[in-house]
Amino acid sequence: MTKIVKINPLNIDDDAIRMCASVIKRGGTVVFPTETVYGLGADAFNPRAVLKIFEAKNRPPDNPLIVHIARFDQLYDVAVDVPEIAWRLIKRVWPGPLTIILRKKKGVPKEVTGGLDTVAVRMPAHPVALKLIEFSETSIAAPSANLSGRPSPTSAEHVIQDLYGRVDVIIDSGKTLFGVESTIINVLTDPPTLLRPGPITVEQIKSIIGIDVKIPVFAKGLGEAKEAISPGVKYRHYAPKTPLILVESNNYSDLSKLVSTIKKIALDYASKGMKVVILASRETVNSYKGFNIIVLGSRNNLYEVARNLFESLRKLDELGVDIAIAEGFEEKGLGLAIMNRLRKASGFNVVRV
Ligand code: TXA
Ligand code: MG
Repeated sequence: MTKIVKINPLNIDDDAIRMCASVIKRGGTVVFPTETVYGLGADAFNPRAVLKIFEAKNRPPDNPLIVHIARFDQLYDVAVDVPEIAWRLIKRVWPGPLTIILRKKKGVPKEVTGGLDTVAVRMPAHPVALKLIEFSETSIAAPSANLSGRPSPTSAEHVIQDLYGRVDVIIDSGKTLFGVESTIINVLTDPPTLLRPGPITVEQIKSIIGIDVKIPVFAKGLGEAKEAISPGVKYRHYAPKTPLILVESNNYSDLSKLVSTIKKIALDYASKGMKVVILASRETVNSYKGFNIIVLGSRNNLYEVARNLFESLRKLDELGVDIAIAEGFEEKGLGLAIMNRLRKASGFNVVRV
């Protein structure tokens, strides 16, 4: 049986968190909110508890987990040889949506790191997450709280769809803030490598560390990683069951070609009797009169687009349409994270105009 516990992040009920923390301490699983997406947590130092995460999600065992901490000194429980460049990022961004790959400390179970000698660590900026970790008196290993391959959950309803009956507790603290998962950076390479774009942008990272950052093609969501640089990238992600075509533009300052191409593709499918939905920006929504539309948000506020993205991908399947067509966004700032998710969700089914 899964227990659902509502916790208001603006008026936290400490007793409720204490109850959830006791589940972690006993080796159980607790889904908790973070500022990015919901996480499926267990005691990072209890291998049997960590294995429950993989089982609940159907996650391949070689795909490592992020360790979540609540205090800076907890970093020394999980990592060694933290480089100066990591400290610069930590001081500026934590608590916040940045995960850093570091050398792992011996005591971290291999179940957490998928057998790697590195560990992914982050301090989330969510009062419920921080208090849960604190009251659990340990570090919490947690992937996103979705079934493997599904879009990450940005609300407790999404978690319930995927994991009800498969975890001990689901904390419901409403919709998450950023809506896409944390940025992941590997500071052990020279220059540092972006493994996953997220709410902390490459531009911000560069300005903090003062040096360039390597952006591999897989971080853009283009193609797969050959080796296990970031083991997660080799698995299918965010995939709605509805086929998704992503239409990208070479020039986002003039959207006319993007819009006319999408209309053409949509009409083509509609003429074959298929039900089509278009994922559009607020700026172009009026161009698609007569079509089913999901508005992702404004091109001038990519935070809005990111926040609605996974919910919209989940909606596709609920609508029961045959095909979805999504507009692309400019790959600047948060746009890189959005395009990474959209390209993967499309299964690299991309049209460029
Ligand atoms: O925002 C987030 O990061 C959310 C919340 C819950 O914190 N978590 C999350 O976890 O997105 P997950 O497991 O869905 O994604 C973690 C990614 C995976 O692609 C995994 O392969 C990668 O991090 N990863 C974990 N440890 C790694 C390591 N040592 N080296 C390289 N990549 C690693
Ligand atoms: Mg995930």
